[in-house]
Amino acid sequence: ILSDILSSYTYLHNGPRLLEPSLTSFLTTKEAALTSILAKRWRNLVAFVPCLTIDDSVFLHPEKGKQVKEDVKQSFMDFVDRVLALQGNSPLKKFSLKCDTVADTDRLDGWISSVLARGLSDLDLKIILHNRKIPGDHYQLSPKCFECSTLVSLSIDSWIDVTLAAARIFLPMLKKLVLVWVKVCPDEFETLLHALPSLEELVLARVIWKGTDVTVSSASLKTLTIMFCFWLNTLSFDTPSLVHFKYSGLVAPDYPVVNMGNLVDAQIDLFLRDNDEDAHRYSKVWKLFHGIRNVPNLSLFTDTLEVLSVCSELMRVFNNIKSLTIKSGNDLGWQATPAILRNCPHLETLVIKGIVHHVTDKCGDICGCISREGKGLSLKLCPVKVMKIHGFQGTMQEMAMIKHFLEYLPCLKEMEVYAEENNNPIQLGTKHVLEMFELYNKLSSCNVQLFI
Ligand SMILES: *[C@@H]1O[C@H](CO)[C@@H](O)[C@H](O)[C@H]1NC(C)=O
Repeated sequence: ILSDILSSYTYLHNGPRLLEPSLTSFLTTKEAALTSILAKRWRNLVAFVPCLTIDDSVFLHPEKGKQVKEDVKQSFMDFVDRVLALQGNSPLKKFSLKCDTVADTDRLDGWISSVLARGLSDLDLKIILHNRKIPGDHYQLSPKCFECSTLVSLSIDSWIDVTLAAARIFLPMLKKLVLVWVKVCPDEFETLLHALPSLEELVLARVIWKGTDVTVSSASLKTLTIMFCFWLNTLSFDTPSLVHFKYSGLVAPDYPVVNMGNLVDAQIDLFLRDNDEDAHRYSKVWKLFHGIRNVPNLSLFTDTLEVLSVCSELMRVFNNIKSLTIKSGNDLGWQATPAILRNCPHLETLVIKGIVHHVTDKCGDICGCISREGKGLSLKLCPVKVMKIHGFQGTMQEMAMIKHFLEYLPCLKEMEVYAEENNNPIQLGTKHVLEMFELYNKLSSCNVQLFI
């Protein structure tokens, strides 16, 4: 037992994270008598720990799927109480609590309040209540989480209902807010953002909005990541200081305000529903692209190209784009790609992740899949100097595309081709493929390199 404690002790003094599973599980699964014997030692260990990480999955779920017994849950809660009591009021920097099985939300609220009062800068909660009295009901987060003068980073994850008392929000130092799979009312969310003068980074992942019209409005926000955004009617951004923007989700019927004129990079990953044939649904998506038109570095993923093909005639000129990344797949068409390239008059770097795509009659212009009049026209006008191709598999179809790009891009100086990570080295390394690369290098004025 002592050696167990001592090895944890060594770890505690070397690493930034505290209460590693070995230590927590050891102490919670042994009898109280044992703990009291070691209490003095334990006190010394825990009292000055500046970062507390408590994860119940280590010792509450020895066998997956098995119901956790009431007394085990009780002992977990007692354990947390004991740790917090041992620490007293000593300063705490970070508190991270992951628990799947807390029955007593009053105690949970108590823990949160007590750590927030200790100069905390980083609070990370991941809480799933299995024992909810009403099925489907969410844990109502303690409003105390939004009243802390020292908090810099707040992360709230999973099945939590964030209901805010607007008048009580006081987080003057908060720089980073992460909301994952939580329930939020759009109006309260807007009020919250306005009450955060220092906010720089916001992550909204799988948020369950209690309404259909959402506005992200913050004068200070620099980095915004929205993941899996579903079922909204309107989505607005009033974020004039935004620098980095990542957005994935279903296309919203309207984007009334998109104020992000200082963007440096944007990554747009729009999804289509299977029955989303109706082009009318996307008639306003151009507003989103209009709002980000000054961005120098743009990435368009998966369905976004298809969405743009519907409104490509409405595409605005991206005068500032220097770097464009396109990610596609076997089942996606490239209809919009010619229009996009024509609308980027200052493009310098084109990155393509996966050049194998679904051949349609409208993509022939850029890819040469189909022979047609005016072949390669969009490429001939494109000023790209550097091209990077990722996910190369060594097929003849890809080789033909590469040749096509080399033939038609007039300013191309560098082409870097990267093999797919789980590549088939035999196929890639065949003499034939290597010979073709050598030949392309000789025939064009561009430096073509293959990275296997
Ligand atoms: C463009 O932005 C992406 C992130 O979206 C980043 O990974 C990439 O390095 C940036 N490219 C350039 C040329 O700045």
